[in-house]
Amino acid sequence: MNHSDHVRLIRDGVSGGGSVWADLGSGEGAFTLALADLLGSGGHIYSVDTDARALREQRQALQARFPAVTLEQRTADFTQPLDLPPLDGVVMANSLHFQRHKELVLRLVRAMLKPGGRLVLVEYNADRGNWWVPYPMSYPTWEALAGTNGFVETRLLATQPSRFLREIYSALSYTPS
Ligand SMILES: C[S@@+](CC[C@H](N)C(=O)[O-])C[C@H]1O[C@@H](n2cnc3c(N)ncnc32)[C@H](O)[C@@H]1O
Repeated sequence: MNHSDHVRLIRDGVSGGGSVWADLGSGEGAFTLALADLLGSGGHIYSVDTDARALREQRQALQARFPAVTLEQRTADFTQPLDLPPLDGVVMANSLHFQRHKELVLRLVRAMLKPGGRLVLVEYNADRGNWWVPYPMSYPTWEALAGTNGFVETRLLATQPSRFLREIYSALSYTPS
């Protein structure tokens, strides 16, 4: 996948959804860059990962390509409460599948978001995991899980063929307003 694939996957979830976002499990920043591209000048991104090296690389790329976007990084675990202001939106791209029990993280994410805030999920469209992607969830599984964890209006945004686990999808959910 390249930058335009990343942008295409999350575009309809991010556009019109405010300017203060977090990217949880942002890694080297493939989707942080896409988010920065979509938010543009005035955008504010809190980027969270436990991997300090990946965050350093990400910062360099963001500064080079989207200097008008404010980036605040946290070397932190998103399964613990994070000290962030109320957010317009959260992106979780290929990071929720590391959690066997996703309810705790979803509760924390819901609490981070403003009423009517957005959660944009990017995941492999599969329910059977492997060593690298231990606990994935297909889109139908995600739709049900989002609903039982207090998110509303979940919908599929886009898909992308993948050599690994066949397909990636993006989905948008809201917190009740
Ligand atoms: C497969 S990478 C995806 C990176 C990026 N979101 C992307 O799609 O290119 C997963 C990232 O999530 C991070 N991660 C996994 N569990 C985490 C946790 N509990 N707290 C913070 N970061 C976590 C890993 O360190 C890694 O950088």
